[in-house]
Amino acid sequence: MRLRQLVWRATYELLGSRVRRPEWSFMNYGYAALSAAKPLALDPADEPDRYCIQLYAHVLDGVDVTGADVLEVGSGRGGGASWISRSLGPSTTTGVDFASSAVALSRRDRTGPGLRFVQGDAQALPFSDASFDVVVNVESSHCYASMETFVAEVYRVLRPGGSFVWADLRGADDVATTRTHLTSSGLVPVAERDITAEVLSALRLDDARKTELVREWIPRPFQRALRPFAGLEGTRNPEGFAAGTLRYLSARLERVA
Ligand SMILES: C[S@@+](CC[C@H](N)C(=O)[O-])C[C@H]1O[C@@H](n2cnc3c(N)ncnc32)[C@H](O)[C@@H]1O
Repeated sequence: MRLRQLVWRATYELLGSRVRRPEWSFMNYGYAALSAAKPLALDPADEPDRYCIQLYAHVLDGVDVTGADVLEVGSGRGGGASWISRSLGPSTTTGVDFASSAVALSRRDRTGPGLRFVQGDAQALPFSDASFDVVVNVESSHCYASMETFVAEVYRVLRPGGSFVWADLRGADDVATTRTHLTSSGLVPVAERDITAEVLSALRLDDARKTELVREWIPRPFQRALRPFAGLEGTRNPEGFAAGTLRYLSARLERVA
């Protein structure tokens, strides 16, 4: 396991074991449409997480999840898998994450029919071949030692005709390589977008709320380290998005056969 992956794993294990609040259910930067689109209908209880949920709605746009077996890889604190399970009518939703503390919180706080959480590594998924119709991966793959190994695993666990939806940040210099990795196992691209502007907009719109949550939820000694992680204004990732050195991409691919 490479050092970078070990550091990510330790970080997410620590966050899951030190901050056990059930209200914290998402860990992505969010998505805010730039045009005046009809707002996504949400349960009132989901409103605080609107931007984070909109990132899931964006990647799943055009994918019929009704009756499907859905896998989310890098499910974090379980908010995304829970929203999919409650809102999009899948048959089953499985979240997998390598941080055992995050899986434990998800099992404790996000329950519902057909929803389960499993510990496992994106690069060695603990599932049999052709066992899912849809694989979702939101803001997690930048932590993996090998994107190609992960995409090969996605291909393996998808049924023919299944969809892989993905969103994540990358250095501007890594965009072309990432596109190559996404198709390296034979998945066929259906849609691909640069959503940096939408993600940056969500970060700005959600900044005051997230700043307050970091103050309220995160133990004082960790607050400073958490600010860039949360993408708060003035930290390196929003600045990189604004400067064009960092991009946020989304894609939908299909396993044809
Ligand atoms: C930024 S969080 C995003 C969580 C969730 N998708 C969301 O949007 O709220 C990234 C997640 O990926 C998980 N992760 C990182 N590397 C992983 C790996 N190799 N296998 C499985 N999960 C991994 C982390 O533990 C963390 O929960």
